[in-house]
Amino acid sequence: MEQGKDWNPDLYLKFRNERTQPSIDLIRKIDISFQPKSILDIGCGPGNSSQALLRRWPNAKLTGVDNSENMIEKAKKSYPDNTWIVADASKYTSSDKFDIVFSNAAIQWIPHHEILFKKLYNLINICGVLAISVPRFDEMPISKIIQRVASKAKWKEATTGCADAFTRYNYQFYYDLISADYQKVEFWQTDYIHVLESQFAIIEWTSSTGMKPYLDRLEDEDKLQFEDEVLSEIKFDYPVQKNGKVLFPFRRLFMVGYK
Ligand SMILES: C[S@@+](CC[C@H](N)C(=O)[O-])C[C@H]1O[C@@H](n2cnc3c(N)ncnc32)[C@H](O)[C@@H]1O
Repeated sequence: MEQGKDWNPDLYLKFRNERTQPSIDLIRKIDISFQPKSILDIGCGPGNSSQALLRRWPNAKLTGVDNSENMIEKAKKSYPDNTWIVADASKYTSSDKFDIVFSNAAIQWIPHHEILFKKLYNLINICGVLAISVPRFDEMPISKIIQRVASKAKWKEATTGCADAFTRYNYQFYYDLISADYQKVEFWQTDYIHVLESQFAIIEWTSSTGMKPYLDRLEDEDKLQFEDEVLSEIKFDYPVQKNGKVLFPFRRLFMVGYK
């Protein structure tokens, strides 16, 4: 990944608990009666989702794949006993298959999900499980605010096409895709309501994820100004509560397929 555009694991982990909760919830729902021997975590980031998987199945052999060198370096340092691979998940191949192929908050960065899901299917052992969660960022006010700011004359040229950094499909699309290949499927959607310390925390949260493609196109000083303009618009959709906290609703879609 291009230097300066790589992910920042420390900023990402500032909201570690909130970002890991969907993995914990998805893992809890996986209904299997055997002990999985091998698990693949696609877009494992700094290893937080992988660690949640190992808390449920401590004897499984875990492989984490991520195309960010920074993220994999952080995962390696934090959890040296697992296998960590720097690779684009859409190109990743393995001669081994896995009992569980898992991914939290990562595949929205990868295009062409018909192809990706076929690939993931082929990486799963018979009777294994696919378990995926994707944020519905484009359905949230913050996404619209970022796009509104980006469409201003000052930012328009630099940020053209940034909204396309995220792959978006509706749940009907995923249902058709997964139910065609798997014996049983489960789908649900959750609105987490995260309690943050301030409105600026929403900027910190999204600067390392949903706002990242926009910031990656800007010089350092412009990044700050762009963030400031987003912050000034945040106030209407994310007001300060009576106790000073700010509520940040965050929608996520969950999908489980049993092969
Ligand atoms: C929001 S983080 C999710 C990290 C972790 N799974 C979690 O649950 O918090 C998204 C991760 O997807 C990774 N990613 C994005 N595109 C990818 C690709 N094409 N192949 C592999 N990883 C990718 C990013 O580098 C990042 O670490």
